[in-house]
Amino acid sequence: MKRPNPFNADSSWTNQPQTSSDQAIGVSHLGVNYRQVQALTDVNAVINSGRLTGIIGPNGAGKSTLIKAMLGLIPILRGRVFYDGKPLMEQRDRIAYVPQRSLIDWTYPATVWDVVMMGRAKKTGWFRRYSTVSRQIASDALARVGMSDYRHRKIGDLSGGQQQRVFLARSLAQQAEIFCFDEPFVGIDQKTEAVLFEIFHELAEAGNIVIVVNHDLGESITHFDDLILLNRELIACGGRQQVLRSENMYRAYQGQVQFFSDRAA
Ligand SMILES: Nc1ncnc2c1ncn2[C@@H]1O[C@H](COP(=O)(O)OP(=O)(O)OP(=O)(O)O)[C@@H](O)[C@H]1O
Ligand SMILES: [Mg+2]
Repeated sequence: MKRPNPFNADSSWTNQPQTSSDQAIGVSHLGVNYRQVQALTDVNAVINSGRLTGIIGPNGAGKSTLIKAMLGLIPILRGRVFYDGKPLMEQRDRIAYVPQRSLIDWTYPATVWDVVMMGRAKKTGWFRRYSTVSRQIASDALARVGMSDYRHRKIGDLSGGQQQRVFLARSLAQQAEIFCFDEPFVGIDQKTEAVLFEIFHELAEAGNIVIVVNHDLGESITHFDDLILLNRELIACGGRQQVLRSENMYRAYQGQVQFFSDRAA
C-alpha cells in the first residue's frame, strides 16, 4: 500500500531528497548534546524504505549519535523523528539495531543460539517459552548468515566477522522493518563483508529501511543507494552520487580526502 510521507508537508526542511517510497523516517531539526559537547545540530533528513542508506562522516562526526537519537536510546535536545505518523522511539518493536562493536559486552556468557533467540524475545515475551515458530525463524536466520554449525559456541569465543554474522541473524530473527547497523564491517574479512552487503540489499529490496554506519570511503561505498554525510551537522543527504560530490566531501572532511567516485571509475 502506498502511503504518503507525512513529512512532505513540512516546507521548512532543507537539503533533503524527494521521497516516493511507501514509508520513510523523517528527521526534523534534530539536535543532540552530551553535557558540554554539541554532537549534532539541526539535522534534517529523510530515510526511505527500499533503499540501502549509509551514514558517513569522520570520527566523532555524530554518526552513532544520530542512530541512537533516532531510536530514542539517548535524550535529544530538540527536534523530532517520525515514522508512519508517530514518533519512531514509540515503535521500538519495529526496529532491529546492532550497536558499534565496542559497545557490546563480549564477556557475556551467552551462546550463539541465545543471542539469536534474544531477537525473538520482544515477540514472545522474555519469560515465555519460545514457540516452535520462533525457533524455526531463529534457525533460518542462523542458516542465512552461514552460522548454523556454531549455535552452541559462546559468542565471546568467535571471531569479529562471525560475531557480526550472529548479530545480523539476531536482527533478522526480530522480523523488524527498520534495520540499523553501526560500523558492521570493522575488523571483518571480505567474504563476511560480501555476505552482510548481500543481506542488507535483500532487506532493502523487500521494502525495509536499512541504515548502515560506515566510515570506509573505498569501493564498498558503491553498495549504498543513499547517503547521509555528517560532521556534527548535516552536510548532505540523498542519492549516493549527489552526496559524494567533492565540495560536500571537502566540507565534511575539512581538506584533502580520498574517496571512491563512480564518476571517476
Ligand atoms: N557518552 C558521551 N558523552 C560525552 N560525549 C560523547 C558521548 N558519546 C559521544 N560523545 C561525543 O560526541 C561526538 C559524536 O560522537 P559519535 O560517537 O556519535 O561519533 P561517530 O561519528 O560515531 O564517531 P566514530 O566514527 O568514532 O564511531 C564526539 O565528539 C564524541 O566524543
Ligand atoms: Mg560511531
